[in-house]
Amino acid sequence: MPNRTPSTALITGASSGIGAAYARRLAARGYDLVLVARRADRLETLAVELTKEFGIEVRPVIADLATHAGTAQVAEILASDTSIDMLVNNAGISRLGATMDLSPAALDDMVALNITALTRLSRAALPGFVARNRGTIVNIGSVLAFRAMPIASVYSGTKSYVLLFTSGLQEELKDTAIRVQAVLPAGVATEIYDGTILPLDQIPPELVMQVDAMVDAALAGLDSGELVTLPSVSDLELLSRYTSAQADLFSASQTGRPAARYGV
Ligand SMILES: NC(=O)c1ccc[n+]([C@@H]2O[C@H](COP(=O)([O-])OP(=O)(O)OC[C@H]3O[C@@H](n4cnc5c(N)ncnc54)[C@H](OP(=O)(O)O)[C@@H]3O)[C@@H](O)[C@H]2O)c1
Repeated sequence: MPNRTPSTALITGASSGIGAAYARRLAARGYDLVLVARRADRLETLAVELTKEFGIEVRPVIADLATHAGTAQVAEILASDTSIDMLVNNAGISRLGATMDLSPAALDDMVALNITALTRLSRAALPGFVARNRGTIVNIGSVLAFRAMPIASVYSGTKSYVLLFTSGLQEELKDTAIRVQAVLPAGVATEIYDGTILPLDQIPPELVMQVDAMVDAALAGLDSGELVTLPSVSDLELLSRYTSAQADLFSASQTGRPAARYGV
């Protein structure tokens, strides 16, 4: 078996789009895979394809990560399978519309999948990663972490959480060999737009990245040690200025008294 490594990557949301592209690219790098999603037929087809093409082991896991039971099932795999040294927290949904026009269940699902599952699965992976001082977590956020779209207030908020949570984990783990990367794509041509009020054909094509290019850029960012990868942004100085403005604003808040403008 050429170039096989003992590593296994667990990818959530691997049945389509960005997650399926990660599966193909990590398979090509020799990873065995645990592929998680709800659509069993898609996962089985991908598993057969990747096993045949790359000679790796692929384990499809059917789980609904918007539920406690589904997340607990995958958390247990992360906690018990010591071959897993990469977690790609990719599964995510976007329900678009004004907040009051979306059902409470749609809002709950976005928070459950985009925030709760990602947090719980990271938590499940960490003890083993720390004990072995080895492992990588890739958290898929969005550039909407920086700017809430009015048709995506809750979705944008969940992606802002992904960025801040990831930066907190990076601080927690800075003295270890464990890598945590936030990947913040802009528009990528996937099924996430299907059936929404913003279908792909209404977005100018020049603003939409192809999914393989997005994942290749994200993996290049990971390989080069980036903590925050913005696949479509050329001027990385913008990120430095953003991060530094955040740090300045936080420092400026540490005064212990109301600002003079409030006259208190
Ligand atoms: N496409 C973009 O423009 C874009 C931009 C920025 C960020 N992102 C982020 O990229 C990630 C991947 O999205 P995508 O664009 O590749 O969309 P996608 O093609 O719709 O893929 C979403 C994946 O998540 C899985 N999923 C959805 N609900 C799930 C649930 N309850 N439990 C388990 N898995 C579930 C889906 O599988 P099943 O339906 O089979 O469960 C699918 O594999 C998301 O986090 C998204 O927010 C996308």
